[in-house]
Amino acid sequence: MSKQDWIIAAVIGITIAIVSAVFGVAPSPAAASAASTGQDYLRAVYSPLHFQPAAESATDDQCLACHREILDGRVREQSPAGLPAKDARAWYQQLSTYTGEQDTFHRRHLDTPLAKQLMRLQCNTCHQGHEPREEAPGSSADASQDTTAITLRKQVNPETVCLKCHGQMNFTVMGLSGPWQEVGEQMGNDCLVCHANIRTNRHNVSYLDAEAIEAAGKGNADVCHGCHGGRAWYRIAYPYPRHPWPEMAPDVPDWAKDRPTHSEPRFAKPTAVVNR
Ligand code: HEC
Ligand code: HEC
Ligand code: HEC
Ligand code: HEC
Ligand code: HEC
Repeated sequence: MSKQDWIIAAVIGITIAIVSAVFGVAPSPAAASAASTGQDYLRAVYSPLHFQPAAESATDDQCLACHREILDGRVREQSPAGLPAKDARAWYQQLSTYTGEQDTFHRRHLDTPLAKQLMRLQCNTCHQGHEPREEAPGSSADASQDTTAITLRKQVNPETVCLKCHGQMNFTVMGLSGPWQEVGEQMGNDCLVCHANIRTNRHNVSYLDAEAIEAAGKGNADVCHGCHGGRAWYRIAYPYPRHPWPEMAPDVPDWAKDRPTHSEPRFAKPTAVVNR
């Protein structure tokens, strides 16, 4: 290399160093935390906690040791174009139960007041493990991984998780003439006019607080509707298990013939009281 080439190379090198220092080509928070705890990055990526069976019994604290940003992170106060977050309310933020400032997806399910009041979600309620190398089904280099079970490029299965609380309200099986948005007022904005006696054996799962839901839902259908159609991301309803209830008629209606009669075993309530 000539002297001139050396100077050009040095200038390019310094420019890259300044640009990355100023604009922050930083490692991801989990990677940084893996580094600061003295673990190497790949070891952390392949942590047994990202796989079954360890994922099933992982505690939130174990995950948060590396993923603190999930609870600590906050949304921007304003969009890059200058729109203040507090002035932006989306269609799914119109229910009377929506309170407080705009917050992150994770915090709205784990840490905000409504979430803490009604739900007991844990990391592994939603995250059941993922394959770090391959997130598309049917294309894994490792045949021992059953990739057919993965929904394309998702680390959480939306059909078995999100749909439970974000599906449509199945108003036809309820004998209602239309969606709740249209008939709710005629029903006195109260689900319990019927549900004080129908399908009363409900919400006995580890990730919900059944008593708190009943208390909050009394006189405010928005609480119930919130998880049963009020912020539906889907055009379908979740096929809920149909738990027998005291005055239940013995004949099973056609629409319910294929329904399970119990919640998924993984959400069985622990017999001992566990503090989160
Ligand atoms: C030892 C540290 C460590 C632990 C413990 C850990 N993770 Fe991770 N996790 C990582 C690292 C590092 C990555 C990769 C981050 C990156 O590349 O940006 C990662 C990635 C992820 C991803 C994103 C995967 C992707 O492909 O984008 C999810 C989701 C995740 N972890 C969830 C969890 C959950 C849930 C737990 C607890 C059951 C957990 N992690 C425990 C370090 C950890
Ligand atoms: C309500 C379900 C739900 C709960 C509870 C949940 N997550 Fe997630 N998480 C998701 C979804 C959905 C994504 C996005 C997945 C994708 O992109 O495929 C995600 C993404 C992530 C990622 C990837 C980085 C990011 O921010 O997108 C990490 C890491 C992660 N979650 C960790 C955790 C940890 C740790 C906990 C427990 C403290 C947790 N999650 C609880 C649903 C959940
Ligand atoms: C156990 C019930 C439950 C499950 C499961 C659930 N959610 Fe939610 N979700 C809620 C509730 C309740 C709220 C309302 C939070 C509030 O208004 O404070 C909500 C709010 C949201 C919001 C709006 C947050 C905001 O800022 O207004 C999004 C987006 C969302 N959920 C997506 C998902 C996705 C994606 C999944 C699956 C990974 C999921 N939810 C699983 C109950 C659930
Ligand atoms: C007019 C009476 C009536 C009202 C009002 C009503 N429901 Fe129902 N609901 C029913 C009946 C009837 C069923 C089906 C019972 C059965 O399984 O045979 C049902 C079933 C359900 C189911 C289970 C659906 C399934 O596919 O398994 C959910 C969830 C539900 N109702 C939630 C609500 C919520 C939330 C509200 C208020 C926003 C509400 N209901 C208002 C009568 C009503
Ligand atoms: C935080 C979200 C959430 C709220 C709030 C909520 N539900 Fe549910 N509901 C669920 C989930 C999740 C299931 C399915 C649980 C399972 O798998 O057993 C369910 C199941 C049901 C079922 C089916 C019962 C059965 O046979 O198992 C009925 C009926 C129902 N809810 C009515 C209501 C009513 C009425 C309210 C208000 C008092 C309400 N829900 C509030 C999330 C919610």
